[in-house]
Amino acid sequence: MDQAKPASKQQMLHILVTGANSGLGFSICCRLADEFLSSHPESESLTIVFTTRSARKAQDTIRRLEAHLQSTSPSASAAARVHFVSETVDLGDLRSVRALSRKLVHTLPRLDSIVLNAGLGGWSGISWIRAIWDVCTDLLHAVTWPAYKLAPVGVLTDKQTKTEEEPALGAVFCANVFGHYMLAHNVAPLLKRARTNGPGRVVWVSSIEATWKFFDIDDIQGLRTDAPYESSKALTDLLALTSNLPCTAPWAIDSFLQSETELDTHAIHTDAPDVNPLMYVSHPGICATSIVPLILPLTWAMIAIFWTARLLGSPWHPLSTYLGACAPVFLALASQADLEAAEEPYRRAGGGRAKWGSSCGRLGNESAVSTEVDGWGHGGVVGTPVVEADRLRRRKRGAEDLTKENRVQFEELGRQCWKQMEELRLQWDEILDQAEARS
Ligand SMILES: NC(=O)c1ccc[n+]([C@@H]2O[C@H](COP(=O)([O-])OP(=O)(O)OC[C@H]3O[C@@H](n4cnc5c(N)ncnc54)[C@H](OP(=O)(O)O)[C@@H]3O)[C@@H](O)[C@H]2O)c1
Repeated sequence: MDQAKPASKQQMLHILVTGANSGLGFSICCRLADEFLSSHPESESLTIVFTTRSARKAQDTIRRLEAHLQSTSPSASAAARVHFVSETVDLGDLRSVRALSRKLVHTLPRLDSIVLNAGLGGWSGISWIRAIWDVCTDLLHAVTWPAYKLAPVGVLTDKQTKTEEEPALGAVFCANVFGHYMLAHNVAPLLKRARTNGPGRVVWVSSIEATWKFFDIDDIQGLRTDAPYESSKALTDLLALTSNLPCTAPWAIDSFLQSETELDTHAIHTDAPDVNPLMYVSHPGICATSIVPLILPLTWAMIAIFWTARLLGSPWHPLSTYLGACAPVFLALASQADLEAAEEPYRRAGGGRAKWGSSCGRLGNESAVSTEVDGWGHGGVVGTPVVEADRLRRRKRGAEDLTKENRVQFEELGRQCWKQMEELRLQWDEILDQAEARS
């Protein structure tokens, strides 16, 4: 691990970003640095701990991040207020997640936010006939909520331990949700020490495509579906949007936020771990990245089609990952007062958490806005959306205003998800403990 430069008498924010070597993760780091320098006083500095999957990717990423910082920061002294620290983790390998968690807990004084960005599509291809037909006949819908990606069913991670018998662990589920979930649980003691921007924050990166129609509570790992990515993102939404409700508290607060590593207090930890972190969910809109691997001519065709969608009025095509980073960075960096002000209209109308997406106008003017979620509407508010901009924004075809019944169903689904996720975490923690004891 590269050592963070000491910052005497400075308040230092610590933000962790996973999957930072490419696409959105890299831009989140860049944007965090830029927005921090333009919005935070000189008495504060920022350490961005970013993860990749190899030392080579880490080296390359830190070089590009430093180059970005030099080119955008107003002065050398401003640039000196931002520090990059690289770590490695494979979220599909729970031992690797444990190793990173331990290292962070032993070396960082606190974490103000963690941005759970790394993600695996897991697709095997595209149904080209369907894609061409949909794009030609229904462009905006087809490139926002595509129905032509193909994925194999039941793909598992490699074995996690040397134990003969091991429960199945879905590859996409583990990379997108469970690995992050274990990481967030393990670093909860650091998040509980956050002070500078208010309580610590767990910021998930979901997708506009996520909807509970892709999700089956009897298959939370998405092992029986041919849409494991969409299922994993729907689960992400369910966990984050219900994380602060009384019905999920026995798991989301009383269990998930209690970590054994709390007992492991070090000289580096000067604050008491006494403020529970909060959970938020974001998505980047649609950006041109390699998450769907395409050959170069098709990548250019994809970018041209995304541009067309934006020109035709899609609010969800930032294309650039820097613009797509807008919502996750807002959630990770904004003051608690600004976050609460953004959520206030929903809370006042009986709702709660909103799903914050990076929206973009024709001219590339981006903003973090609430995204309509099946079963949760805008911010969980029953009936007509309370924020005018939400009412005016182009909707998914067939979207209906949230009903009381759907909201009750969503909350119940969230409760069951939290319960199952905590059971799975406890089961896997025991398996990993036993494997460690044997080795
Ligand atoms: N692009 C979009 O339009 C879009 C839309 C909605 C949501 N998102 C979400 O945005 C996030 C970033 O996606 P992206 O578009 O930037 O894709 P990307 O360029 O493919 O980046 C994905 C990142 O996740 C890392 N990663 C994948 N599997 C991992 C694992 N098992 N362990 C650790 N790291 C892993 C990758 O590392 P390697 O390079 O080592 O593989 C890479 O750094 C994802 O959560 C994705 O679902 C993207």
